[in-house]
Amino acid sequence: MNQFEILTGSSEETFRFAEKLAQFLQPGDVIALEGDLGAGKTTFTKGLAKGLEIKKTVNSPTFTIIKEYQGKLPLYHMDVYRVEDSYEDLGFDEYFEGDGVTVVEWAHLIEEQLPEQILTIYLYHEEQDHRKIVLVPKGRRYEQLCKEIFK
Ligand SMILES: Nc1ncnc2c1ncn2[C@@H]1O[C@H](COP(=O)(O)OP(=O)(O)OP(=O)(O)O)[C@@H](O)[C@H]1O
Ligand SMILES: [Mg+2]
Repeated sequence: MNQFEILTGSSEETFRFAEKLAQFLQPGDVIALEGDLGAGKTTFTKGLAKGLEIKKTVNSPTFTIIKEYQGKLPLYHMDVYRVEDSYEDLGFDEYFEGDGVTVVEWAHLIEEQLPEQILTIYLYHEEQDHRKIVLVPKGRRYEQLCKEIFK
């Protein structure tokens, strides 16, 4: 399987990589974020938000599941860590098919409900402030996107 990797040495570096990635995003793009507690999923999302010119502070939406932000494109930030039942239908499709970019922290918990084409980003906690970021594109749109980012 095609995958793309980058190592970061600080939260700022992860933030900046996400900010860069945001430049390539289009309406309807869906990103799954996977990684342990504190791996950097929310840090990554904050970088995306900056890249999408969102002025509001993006926080972890742990208790709300979905938060919406307005920017160059709308950002739908989901954290499904506390979704009780993976089949619980909270209307995710409307976001995935909407005019914005959707980012889902802990996406595998709602695996059955995710779109077929998706960009999965794994964040691996290496020692201290080091993280390995692995992008796994599923579908042509995201393969193209990864190629552009890593060009
Ligand atoms: N290279 C790095 N990339 C990202 N975050 C880093 C890095 N180095 C250190 N950190 C720190 O790790 C923490 C990551 O927290 P963050 O909330 O982004 O993780 P998370 O994956 O969203 O966690 P949770 O599962 O609790 O939602 C922050 O305190 C950040 O400063
Ligand atoms: Mg988080």
